[in-house]
Amino acid sequence: MQFDYFDAQVLQRAWEVYGAPIYVYDFAQIERQFNKLQSCLPPNFRLHYALKANANLSICRRFAHLGAAAEVSSLGELIAALRVGFSVEEIVFTGPGKSRHELLAALEKGVGLIVVESMSEARRLNELAVEIGINQPILLRVNPAIRTANSCEVRASGASCNDLQPIQMNGQGASKFGVDEESLDTVIPMLQSLTNLALQGIHIFTESNVLDYQQLVNTWGNTVEIADRLRQSGVPVHILDFGGGIGIAYNSVKQEFDTQAFGQELKLRFTDVPQPYHCILEIGRYLVGEAGYYLAEVLDVKESKGQRFVILHGGIHNLYRTPAMQNATKYLRVLGKENSPTQPAVLAGQLPTPVDVMVRGVELPADIAIGDVVAIHNCGAYGFNHSLTNFALHPYPAEVAYVNGELVLIRDRGSYEDFFRHQRLVEV
Ligand SMILES: Cc1ncc(COP(=O)(O)O)c(C=O)c1O
Repeated sequence: MQFDYFDAQVLQRAWEVYGAPIYVYDFAQIERQFNKLQSCLPPNFRLHYALKANANLSICRRFAHLGAAAEVSSLGELIAALRVGFSVEEIVFTGPGKSRHELLAALEKGVGLIVVESMSEARRLNELAVEIGINQPILLRVNPAIRTANSCEVRASGASCNDLQPIQMNGQGASKFGVDEESLDTVIPMLQSLTNLALQGIHIFTESNVLDYQQLVNTWGNTVEIADRLRQSGVPVHILDFGGGIGIAYNSVKQEFDTQAFGQELKLRFTDVPQPYHCILEIGRYLVGEAGYYLAEVLDVKESKGQRFVILHGGIHNLYRTPAMQNATKYLRVLGKENSPTQPAVLAGQLPTPVDVMVRGVELPADIAIGDVVAIHNCGAYGFNHSLTNFALHPYPAEVAYVNGELVLIRDRGSYEDFFRHQRLVEV
């Protein structure tokens, strides 16, 4: 693959100025992705930034300024969303197992839509809504009876997301998310009997990192069919939340996600119809994934039984979704040694566990040496916020934005004190 100016100049500079391990985010790329998707969406679609992908405040603020709404899955994310200026009426609060404290906070702050994931959660929410005298709009999350999937999460480990065909799954069965489609006939009347909740629609999210827009739209067609059936039976459904799932390329792929064609298909299938729904897209990976780079220095190069190991000053405590999990070896390189002849190696992190291996059998420069910097691309989503940050007490990486030609620190490197701040040292 070819590396551009950003890769060659900016990453090198970020490392020289701020050191590593570090995340660097290209804010122009964030904006390009947002505009590309936003400009293709039909008028009945609303783009919500899924904070779980990357909850850095400066990144969230950029999305708020660009005009996105937000999707949060915890009170922490809700606080972040409010702090950076997302409109509270347009926040969707998803996630299985919301605590009483979280539900109460969501009600009190005026969150626009709370997605209930079970009848017991709905009852708890209703009790709280009665207590404080609020009528709360909700969506019901549904676990569909039929679904397609090419998600890495539902495949055998080690399989590549990009090369595989979608699987049609019948009666997918048990899930911790939502209520089973088969139980809707009994759940909906119970929901409607709750005095202070107002059911507005349904939420179904089944897939992640899908590069084939047709596949995604077909899955969403199934969501529309479920909603249509509810409507026909007299349930006033008017909002559909399709979740996220738009993919980015982590390796060489036959076809990248075709955003333009996707927009046209959405219009055809979900807008130019007699009674279109208001449709919510909660998008994370597509919006921030490609903008993020993770840099880590080489701490050691060694051999064991004929294999070469490169040990990073970093690892799964910084980047849990390793290049192996994402099949992202084409997006991994050593700064300044892009043209060196290569040899296979095991790229591993510094944690004291064999689990901390980024990728095995990866081609790395034959002359890789201690002090070199490994750059992993496409780490903007599910990087910093999806890592085993507390394992072995290594300080959090710093985060840097590249904005208008400048590098700006947006999170200080962590300190050892971070790990001790809330502890009480007790003699027992
Ligand atoms: C409920 C929900 N919405 C949205 C997203 C964001 O998905 P993506 O990053 O694929 O856009 C996720 C990701 O796990 C999710 O669980």
